[in-house]
Amino acid sequence: MPQRLHYREAGPADARNVLVLVHGFPFSSAMWRPQLDAPPAGWRVIAPDLPGFGESPPIEGDMLSMDAAADAVAGLIRDLGLESVVLGGLSMGGYVCFAFMRRHPKLVRALVLADTRPGPDSEQVRRGRLQSAAKVSGNGTGELIDGMLPKLLSPLTRKRQPEVEAEVRGIMEAATPAGVIAALHGMAARPDSTPMLRSITVPTLIVVGSDDVITPPGEAQLMSRGIPGSRIEPIVDAGHLPNLEQTADFDRLVHGFLESVAV
Ligand code: MLT
Repeated sequence: MPQRLHYREAGPADARNVLVLVHGFPFSSAMWRPQLDAPPAGWRVIAPDLPGFGESPPIEGDMLSMDAAADAVAGLIRDLGLESVVLGGLSMGGYVCFAFMRRHPKLVRALVLADTRPGPDSEQVRRGRLQSAAKVSGNGTGELIDGMLPKLLSPLTRKRQPEVEAEVRGIMEAATPAGVIAALHGMAARPDSTPMLRSITVPTLIVVGSDDVITPPGEAQLMSRGIPGSRIEPIVDAGHLPNLEQTADFDRLVHGFLESVAV
């Protein structure tokens, strides 16, 4: 039974064109603040909190699979009476997009993939995730946040925009241990989405921060080679969170793409 999700939204409620933005880990819909503050003209933007994050209730059990997350987002889209949407996801949100494309492709009219990768975890990364989950279970999320934060933002963002770092830290600190643990288990168990890339036939925009060390530009290039007709755009001086670090560039690229797929 898909989960009912809390979501934030912006733009006209009766818009024909709808963009759904899926957040990364361990964030929430709050990470899309700039995009919700300035939605593209005429578009409705919906940003769900994935199960166990923000204000959405957690999934039952201790694993949020990417499939369950995708089903929950699809349930929300159907509950809202939407026939099809442009789906966007950043990092873990991208993993959810791949699951979504496997399970609910008819609901997606176009795709935006930001700072993500189609491949599964290596054995080493998977083990690391399970160790992190055990530590979060014993000691809370502090160590995980301190370890992730320096890798999330470009050196320039850290130097020139301390407010972005503070915002990102605040969003991460709001995540509950249970939500974090379930997502760690779910990401560790996710399948390889590389083989299904060629079956993605909707218009696809791939964006990546040029300084992203978590899902580096090379991953985006591989993804772009796999998805027929996709367009790839680097965002200079951004790390893993270009929508927060270089908002104007991110929005310009996404809005331009949306114009090209509007109905
Ligand atoms: C994210 O931003 O969603 C995470 O870095 C994804 C991951 O840990 O693989």
